Amino acid sequence: MNTNFIPATAVIREIIRENDTISTFRLELINKRVPFSFRSGQFCMLSVPHCGEAAISISSAPNALPLFDLSIRNAGELTNAMHQMKAGEQVGIRGPFGTPFPMADFANSDMLFVAGGIGLAPLKSVIDHCLFQSGLEADAVANITLLYGSRSPSEVAFTTAISSWKEQGIDCRLTVDAGDDSWHANVGLVTELLQKELITKNTKSLICGPPVMIRFVIARLTEMGCASHDIFTTLERHMKCGMGTCGHCHLDGKLVCVDGPVFSLEQLQTMDVMELGT
Ligand SMILES: Cc1cc2nc3c(=O)[nH]c(=O)nc-3n(C[C@H](O)[C@H](O)[C@H](O)COP(=O)(O)OP(=O)(O)OC[C@H]3O[C@@H](n4cnc5c(N)ncnc54)[C@H](O)[C@@H]3O)c2cc1C
Ligand code: FES
Repeated sequence: MNTNFIPATAVIREIIRENDTISTFRLELINKRVPFSFRSGQFCMLSVPHCGEAAISISSAPNALPLFDLSIRNAGELTNAMHQMKAGEQVGIRGPFGTPFPMADFANSDMLFVAGGIGLAPLKSVIDHCLFQSGLEADAVANITLLYGSRSPSEVAFTTAISSWKEQGIDCRLTVDAGDDSWHANVGLVTELLQKELITKNTKSLICGPPVMIRFVIARLTEMGCASHDIFTTLERHMKCGMGTCGHCHLDGKLVCVDGPVFSLEQLQTMDVMELGT
């Protein structure tokens, strides 16, 4: 872990517009003091001059380094400043921080990804990593299914990645809360896509999205017989240091920046996480 408070400088190599409010910024560190590596599920502290810092998950897979992606929703001061930036401009990066998804445990598993909105960002890193591993190893993951919910057709993000995943054999099922004439896929909540036939005793489920979505998806998966050690999610808390020193992200005896953000349901069941009802 990088325990330094001084950010490294990264240059924006490319900006991919995902929808009206989310863009993916493809970055490369240009003055790194130590070699930069990360694992899927980890996050960076991104800084923009005069705007402070925000925690952002890395949305690309480790094999894409030295380039890495941050997919950012325009939500407030820093993220809005980021959305005004252009390729060639520079930002600060600290990290990577936090626990990754336990990729080694996923070998030979059926993978079920359930995401809402920008929540697909950290899962995208895992999906791309699984696809990369599949090209290398016989014991890579078995089947991959993605259930992805958005509020409306115009808010569906990561469409380029989803098209590429479909071409590579991933079963991608999309839904929106409210459709329009242009929308020919499912309409309804992402939990409605959670059908029993998607679950085997070999399924690992990874969930990321708004807390209310996570809560209902966990409840449905549990109802369908998924074990709590096979369900993983990421928690969001306001972060300052990102590396376990300030206590800002404290949650029921844990620090989300070092003990998380990735947790299994088995771990969450030992904690009082009000928004998830555990
Ligand atoms: C581990 C982790 C990973 C994250 N990954 C991503 C990512 O990949 N992409 C992305 O766009 N965002 C991500 N976020 C959320 C991002 O850090 C916040 O939205 C950030 O505060 C935005 O900074 P801002 O200055 O633009 O907005 P601010 O001015 O700080 O806030 C804008 C609004 O969001 C609320 N808010 C801020 N932080 C949080 C939070 N942690 N939880 C709930 N509400 C919050 C504020 O109360 C305010 O209403 C992540 C957060 C965490 C903790
Ligand atoms: S953000 Fe400082 S301890 Fe977690």
